[in-house]
Amino acid sequence: MLAGGTYPAMMALGMLRPAPTYSFNLTGSGDGKHIIILGGGLAGMTCAYELSKLGYKCTILEARERAGGRCWSIRNGSINTETDKPTTTAKFDDGLYFNAGPSRIPHHHELTMHYCKELGVPIQVYNNVNEGAYYFAEGKGPLSNKKVRAREVHNDTRGYMAEMLAKSMDHGNLDAALTKEDAQKVIEYLMAEGGLDPDKLYKASARRGYAESPGAGDKPGKVSEAHKLADMIHSGLLDPDFYNVAEYTYELQMTMFQAVGGMDMIAKALQSKVATMMKLGAEVTNITNLPEGVRVIYKDALGEHALQGDLCICTLPLPVLSNVNNNFSGDVSRAIDYISYMQTGKIGMQFKRRFWEEDDHIYGGITHTNNDLTQIFYPSYDYLSKKGILIGYYNFNEKAVRTGDLSYADREKLALQKGRLIHPQYDAEFENSFSVSWHKTKHSLGGWAVYSSETRKNQYPVLLKPDKNVYFAGEHLTYLNAWMAGAFESARSVITAVHGRITEQRVSYPVNK
Ligand code: ALA
Repeated sequence: MLAGGTYPAMMALGMLRPAPTYSFNLTGSGDGKHIIILGGGLAGMTCAYELSKLGYKCTILEARERAGGRCWSIRNGSINTETDKPTTTAKFDDGLYFNAGPSRIPHHHELTMHYCKELGVPIQVYNNVNEGAYYFAEGKGPLSNKKVRAREVHNDTRGYMAEMLAKSMDHGNLDAALTKEDAQKVIEYLMAEGGLDPDKLYKASARRGYAESPGAGDKPGKVSEAHKLADMIHSGLLDPDFYNVAEYTYELQMTMFQAVGGMDMIAKALQSKVATMMKLGAEVTNITNLPEGVRVIYKDALGEHALQGDLCICTLPLPVLSNVNNNFSGDVSRAIDYISYMQTGKIGMQFKRRFWEEDDHIYGGITHTNNDLTQIFYPSYDYLSKKGILIGYYNFNEKAVRTGDLSYADREKLALQKGRLIHPQYDAEFENSFSVSWHKTKHSLGGWAVYSSETRKNQYPVLLKPDKNVYFAGEHLTYLNAWMAGAFESARSVITAVHGRITEQRVSYPVNK
């Protein structure tokens, strides 16, 4: 059980404390008031789940034939519909999957961890940082167009930076107001941090890896030679594409987690709690605030229907909501149109053999490139098994737009053509692929909300308040954009507002822990 490392198993053994969350013990009853929830993603389902516990009648309208929204894992038979393309169906082997949407949970996203626990979704460690993965820079430098292990670039760069700083301090060239003793401490720290020799010079150390691995008998191993700093610079390895962000970004610091068997196990667990409240295949076309209540019109396979409720919680992504008829205020309509969304896409590629493990010793983690692939994600599950699906690109902005504009077949071609530069095994081992361009995916039309300082200041606050009887929720209405925690936090925040209004109580979220 421990080797599997699943969270519930460790919980059962008393090794982990329960995930702490903001307390959420609302009191009073919703008394059967009808709340219409638009969107059956994590935010919408959480609203229905929590509100039904409080005695509300909830109806969720979900346009797709599946729940979960962007929390979606691709398995054999998964279907994608992009706005300018025919429907496509995944042909993966049973048991293999990739997460087209969220693929990693930061350890400090308490509410995501809380719902995994409450809903009984097993989680496992997601390996986000792998020093054994590659950097691959296309270009004209001495290290261009070849794969270089992340550990080589990281340790060489750290070594050279430490050496330069230590030398400057030796020569008293730094302005820092330090005593001699303190300056000596800093130099000692730099020597340790950079792996410098007693002369404060960076020479290659075992940290960057071996040209010949150590072994038994007469095999002490041979440390590989350091790359020259100028070579790394001229090859683009110090460019923003390769900034060492993974370990530093708060959200991407290890330990990270994923749901066992696919991230949408979280969505499926929530769905099982709210299935009786959910209408699938129900596309909202009209939202009308009435003097008392809300009327929503939706269409499904049988035609058009009207639904009336006391209040509405709208979790539709803003680019989708923008196309729904409504009688919202001018400020709300403007906010819906002005807040932008990330253009982003992923391709899952199934291979006959896990060559990245067998040949390259890469177990999870990310290879970074400066070409349109941007990054390759290796799977953090089923290590040492035969086949696997890796994410052949996960890109953003103009790279995602270029890739998204391609046909499914041309996306696959691009992923193969650029990927084989790093992994020539692609040619012999590739089986099939499935790609998702989120800004082109029907009912999503974007990856996640991206705020400028201007939209955060002027538009964001508008949607935090209800427009009469319609509330807005989702990752886009938080400072946790692009994270499942945003959907959960926003849901709880709106539930609190709705419940306070219906029961005429003063309640606020988050309340103290
Ligand atoms: N949360 C998104 C990710 O993990 C942006 O890539």
